[in-house]
Amino acid sequence: MSERIIIKGGRQLKGEVSIGGAKNAVLKLMAAALLLDDICEIHNVPELSDVQTMIEVINHLGVKTEYKPSEKSLIINAKHITNYEACYELVSKMRASFIVLGALLGRCKEARVALPGGCAIGERRIDLHIKGLEALGAQVKIEGGYVVAKATKLVGAEIHLDRPSVGATENLMLAAVLAEGSSIINNAAQEPEIVDLANFLNSIGADISGAGTSEIVINGVKQKDLHSTVYTTVPDRIEAGTYIAAIVATRGHAIVRNVFPNHLSSVLSKLTEMGATTTIIDPFSIEVNCVNRTRAADMVTQPYPGFPTDLQSPFMSIMAVSKGISIVTESIYENRFRHVGELRRMGADIQQEGNHAIIKGVKFLTGTQVKASDLRAGAALIVASLCANGTCEIENLHHIDRGYEILEHKLSMLGANITRVVDDVSGVDAHIQSNSPISQSYEV
Ligand code: UD1
Repeated sequence: MSERIIIKGGRQLKGEVSIGGAKNAVLKLMAAALLLDDICEIHNVPELSDVQTMIEVINHLGVKTEYKPSEKSLIINAKHITNYEACYELVSKMRASFIVLGALLGRCKEARVALPGGCAIGERRIDLHIKGLEALGAQVKIEGGYVVAKATKLVGAEIHLDRPSVGATENLMLAAVLAEGSSIINNAAQEPEIVDLANFLNSIGADISGAGTSEIVINGVKQKDLHSTVYTTVPDRIEAGTYIAAIVATRGHAIVRNVFPNHLSSVLSKLTEMGATTTIIDPFSIEVNCVNRTRAADMVTQPYPGFPTDLQSPFMSIMAVSKGISIVTESIYENRFRHVGELRRMGADIQQEGNHAIIKGVKFLTGTQVKASDLRAGAALIVASLCANGTCEIENLHHIDRGYEILEHKLSMLGANITRVVDDVSGVDAHIQSNSPISQSYEV
């Protein structure tokens, strides 16, 4: 079976779209649930293949889960952890599963987690995770492609991160919750997903302050102090930013609901600079309106609250059709320009020089066949196709399905002409597929 999305571009997006729960927060909450010798319930869990993969990872550890798609709720029962290993097959499928390292070490004082390796967008080292865990008293070895970590006990420590890594901050927070004494993470990542993780951990009885600033303090608590919770995760700011980009690129006028507008400050201010109008109409809704062709703008990706690297590619699609020359500097990942070649195939005029892309806006892009090379590169192709002349066929949808829930449905509701087709093995016939990445549910 091969799947494609077909978009007939050129329709202005209009109406309303509702944003789901933040993938990058939920995955970490699922790991955090491993600390708890009890049941917890997470709400606003999006139905995504990455969530399914994380369910498999924690099921493999002996944890029971039950996902209810109709309620977007996930019940996790981590009373019994029977295995300390996250195998290569699962970690290589989704590198975010590496986050179970800190939680397993905290709860079981032992973990064996496959090294995630690099990925399409960069080398993605884990040195800061390891140094931090060692500072907390763990012995960490790399053996046969696995990170093997053990500790007789973890003891709070002051840790300075050389860079504000999101994953390292999260792994260290998880390991420090049940450590003896206090830990301080300096130069911590400040992303909203870090705040969400701290809020979840505090809701199960942890003692964490400072999340959302560069200094996070974790006062260790005892396992018996942790307790069950029902918790709702934050909206997905990257999904929201992608829909906002699509509305602007098509010169549409629509409302994006169920968002936290302050999580998107850098994004909204960039759009104002480019000539689009964004209005916060209530605490959870942004009205987006773009009447004229957008203006070029320069952009540098940075850790939060800077412009998010995950929205660099969909914004490049807007710049591809903006008036003037834009310069994009990617400062987080060394190889996050894989959408450039595909946008060029659609008629974009983009020159890449190291970590800079120089985009000379053209009047219009033209539909053609393109391939997503990773999740956010796929998002860029969706945005570009929506505003292109003619028909675009986007392949490698497994990347896009990792992070965008019922994408075709949401875009159709905004007026896009979009269909997912599944070719049968002979390639003769094609049909529309219902897309439900979380196919299994498990009893708690
Ligand atoms: C998370 C997000 C990802 C987002 C990124 C930056 C998830 C599942 N993914 O990824 O979508 O693009 O934050 O906002 O939440 N680094 C090191 N050593 C380390 C750790 C990181 O050198 O020990 C480098 C990485 O190679 C990368 C940069 O730091 O170049 C940022 O990585 P990090 O902030 O850790 O991102 P992730 O947590 O992997």
